[in-house]
Amino acid sequence: MIDNIQRIQKEVGSELAKVSDLDSLEKLRVHYLGKKGIITSLMASLRDLDPERRREMGASLNSLKTDFEAQLDSRKRDMARVQLDKELTQSPKLDVTLPGQFPIATGSFHPITLVMEEMVEAMERIGYQVASGPEIENEFFNFEALNTPSDHPARDMQDTFYIDKGILLRSHTSPVQIRTMKDRQPPLQIISVGRVYRSDYDMTHTPMFHQMEGLFVEQSVSLADLKATLQYLVKQLFGNQPLRFRPSFFPFTEPSAEVDMRCILCKGAPKECRMCGSSGWLEIGGCGMVHPNVFRSVNYDPDRVTGFAFGMGIERISMLKYGIDDLRSFFENDYRMLEQF
Ligand code: PHE
Repeated sequence: MIDNIQRIQKEVGSELAKVSDLDSLEKLRVHYLGKKGIITSLMASLRDLDPERRREMGASLNSLKTDFEAQLDSRKRDMARVQLDKELTQSPKLDVTLPGQFPIATGSFHPITLVMEEMVEAMERIGYQVASGPEIENEFFNFEALNTPSDHPARDMQDTFYIDKGILLRSHTSPVQIRTMKDRQPPLQIISVGRVYRSDYDMTHTPMFHQMEGLFVEQSVSLADLKATLQYLVKQLFGNQPLRFRPSFFPFTEPSAEVDMRCILCKGAPKECRMCGSSGWLEIGGCGMVHPNVFRSVNYDPDRVTGFAFGMGIERISMLKYGIDDLRSFFENDYRMLEQF
């Protein structure tokens, strides 16, 4: 038997050397160690030997077996490494940049962003430049320089979020006018867009919303220029809709007006129009000729320059454009609403 074991030992060595793939390696394992394998049968035959011989043969057989298993293992690991190398270096290569199997949903722009961009692009086409300013402002830029005296109702704590004494969240985009005029000399043709904040919450007001503001300063700017500019902007956004100006009041413009656009749903022939509340008109913003005191506050000479300004709520324009009827839906981040844009 000992001869047999030694023979098998040699045989196993040369067989292992011949094997070159995982399949034949497994076959070799079964051949020797499977249920009816050569080593397995030898082990079974140990029980027929007398105890002395059994111990001796058992030890040799065991070492043959563990030896063989260790070699099988190491061959297996080598082969796996070679296989992996082959897969990594040879075709077909795996291209991890290929798209996945399922269609990947692309995001879309928020309706506020869409309208904002559309308005900015329209104004840029007629020579306006985007100016910007901080959302945390001080009373000077938000109110004082805009001819809004300290006893004006707009300065009431109810409307404006104060952060600290004299420091607040801007309640409109108009402070950007002041900042820009303080930095630059006329002529000026700027717009500013962004978030504004007011302490207000109901169906038609949210504490944060967006505005776009326009400012034109030149030697002789007229109300007709203002109207033509707004007419142009409205045409870009809604097509040709008549406008009307209603006299109004803003501390920083004189004269001031509220701007209405002919209702885009009933086209001004309201029977029962839910869009305009049967008035035939939709309010879209405020405007006016820059007040001389505003020019004085930025060291412009009101006898030498004139200007107009207008402001609009982006949410309002977006609601009209896309037929959205609840302002709050802009801020709820409901996927079903947002994916429509
Ligand atoms: N700032 C004003 C508001 O928020 C809008 C406006 C801007 C009016 C410019 C006139 C001129 O209500």
